[in-house]
Parts: sequence; structure tokens; C-alpha cells
Amino acid sequence: EKDGYDHFMLKEIYQQPEAIKDTYRGRLHANEGLIRMAGVEDNLQRFLNADRILIVACGTSWHAGLVAEYIFEEFTRVPVEVEYASEFRYRNPVIRENDVVIAISQSGETADTLAAIKLAKDHGAFVFGVCNVVGSSISRETHAGAYTHAGPEIGVASTKAFTTQITVLALIALRLAQAKGTVTNSDFHRHLQELELIPEKVEKALETNDVAETIAGIYKDAPNCLYLGRGFNFPVALEGALKLKEISYIHAEGYPAAEMKHGPIALIDEQMPVVVIAQKQEHYDKIVSNIQEIKSRSGKIIAVVTKGDTQVRELADHVIEIPKTVDALSPLLTTIPLQLLSYHIAVMRGCNVDQPRNLAKSVTVE
Ligand code: F6R
Repeated sequence: EKDGYDHFMLKEIYQQPEAIKDTYRGRLHANEGLIRMAGVEDNLQRFLNADRILIVACGTSWHAGLVAEYIFEEFTRVPVEVEYASEFRYRNPVIRENDVVIAISQSGETADTLAAIKLAKDHGAFVFGVCNVVGSSISRETHAGAYTHAGPEIGVASTKAFTTQITVLALIALRLAQAKGTVTNSDFHRHLQELELIPEKVEKALETNDVAETIAGIYKDAPNCLYLGRGFNFPVALEGALKLKEISYIHAEGYPAAEMKHGPIALIDEQMPVVVIAQKQEHYDKIVSNIQEIKSRSGKIIAVVTKGDTQVRELADHVIEIPKTVDALSPLLTTIPLQLLSYHIAVMRGCNVDQPRNLAKSVTVE
């Protein structure tokens, strides 16, 4: 059932081109310039009347929520807040009837997320679920929703669930932006077309496997690792760090690159690998100067760059090249080499990749 792969995690990483296609199949019609999702269309007025959108989730799903925050605000101009379900439910949060709450969960069984949904419903909010497991508790408890259709995810470390969640959320954001008139026609079409190209670009990103394995061999014994990103790719830095921690037990932290100088830069020395997501996109020059700051303190730089990049290549110790896409969709590609890097490091350290210690696939206790 691992289809020749050594681990479910690796199989699921490689399933992502197909999984993403399955996610948008029947929903994305790039040629006609249409996005159709029943759960959204049936509740369009609720979405359009929302004064704000609250996203609740845990772990990797929370990271997908953060990516969604950047995408929703960019395209729909509706303010978005992303909450850890556990903090939200115990905080006596402000929830209004005009709020739309989006709950994201692969398993659909996460206890804290489920409790956050119940709380939001009690306050009269409209709750929309983004789940992978069909018929799960969260999919039943929400008013409406959209499945990710990623297929079963067996590896405890979430991979294809993450990229398919982002795909669903991007579809929703673009559809709402179209309905609100907050995106130009040409931008809307361009993003639909780019979305359709994502599966083949993910294939290309998977070709970084050998490079990722080589880099893994060099840093597998590092006690710490930093991950940096900006904008749409800041949450990818968090996700990259989480992947490394949970399966390889190396201490890793993700940061917005510009926050470095407010503390973490003190950690940098020649022992510290720093993974930087340095795509050729908005704020590129800023990330280049962040890389220079690390380099001048002798940190080891592993940069995830856009194909053809030359500037970062000159500064970095290692580069991983991935195809270019529009900024908003780049997390779908930048995530891939980070998954592979964690995977190889964990394998080299002899860790149980599919069932890391102390972790469970669905966290049904709070
Ligand atoms: C990380 C991971 C966890 C889950 C989290 C939420 O790889 O698997 O952080 O993302 O427990 O789970 P779901 O999405 O099932 O609610």
C-alpha cells in the first residue's frame, strides 16, 4: 500500500500533483473563468456580508490558515484573523453574527477545533469547514464546507493535506474576490490559469528530491535549524520548521525573515543552518538583505529560490530551485522541498518517519 515508497510520508509527498488536481477538479474552470464550489455558492451571501473572517485550526492546518489569511486579504480585502483553536475556545473571544468562521482540519476530529466550531455556532456565526476526511465530526458540525479530496493521509506528518487545504482556500478567496469585485478580471484569470499549472510545477518541485537528500546528509546532525520566509511564504517557514521538529526531533523554528534582527539573529553562528524561502517575488530585495545578514554572521544558508535566480545563488551555501508562479500560490511549491528535506533528515537519523514519537494522527483529546 506504500506503492514502492519506503514510507507513507514519501508516497503522500509524491501524490501532491494528483491530490491538488483532485482538489480543484470540477471546481476550477480556468478556460471559462469560473470557480464553482457548491458550499460557497449556496452560502454566497453569508460570505459576502462577512465583516471579517476568522480561521480556526491547529498545527499544520493552522499554517494553511495563515497562508489563507494572506490570500484572502490580498484578494477580497476582508480582514482575516487566524486563531489556534485551543486559544480561541478558552479566551472568551469576540464572535459576531456577521462573522464567517472557517475551520480547517485534515482529520475532521481535532477536539479543540471541534469545540471552537461549537462556540462560534453558539454565537450565531456561520461556520464553514475545510476537511479531508469525509463524514468526519467537523464536516458534520459545520454549516457548510468543502472537502480537500486529498485521499487518505496515513503519515502522521501532514503533507498533501496542507497543500490541498491551501488549494481549496485559494479557490474560495478567488471566487469571493470575483463576486465582490475586489480583483481585476485579468488578475482573476491569471490566477485561475496559474492554479491549473500548479500540479505540473509541483512535479518539477519534486525533482529537487536529490538536492534535498544531499543537503539532508550535510545537516542531519545539526541540533537546531531556523526557517525564514516573508509574506505568503512566512507560514511556509513555520510549516517547514514544524515538519523538521516532528519527524527528526531537531529543534527548529520558523520566523518572518524581518523578525531576525529582533532576537533570533543572536543564535546565528557557523553551526546554524538557516533555510530561507527566497522566491523572486515581491520583497525579493528584502529577503536578499536578510540573507546577507545571516551570511555576515557565518550562518549556513539553504535557499529555496526561483528557477534562474542568480543573486541569492551567490550568497547561499546551497540552493534548491523551484518553478516560478504567482506570489499567492507560491506556498504550494516552496513547501515541497521543505517536506523532502525533513523527510530525508529523519530517515538518516533513523527516526520513525510515519509514526513519530508522542504524536497521533488525530488529536481527539484537548
Ligand atoms: C503536523 C500535524 C499536526 C496536525 C494537527 C491538526 O504534521 O499533522 O500538527 O496538523 O494536529 O490536525 P487536523 O488537521 O486533523 O485537525
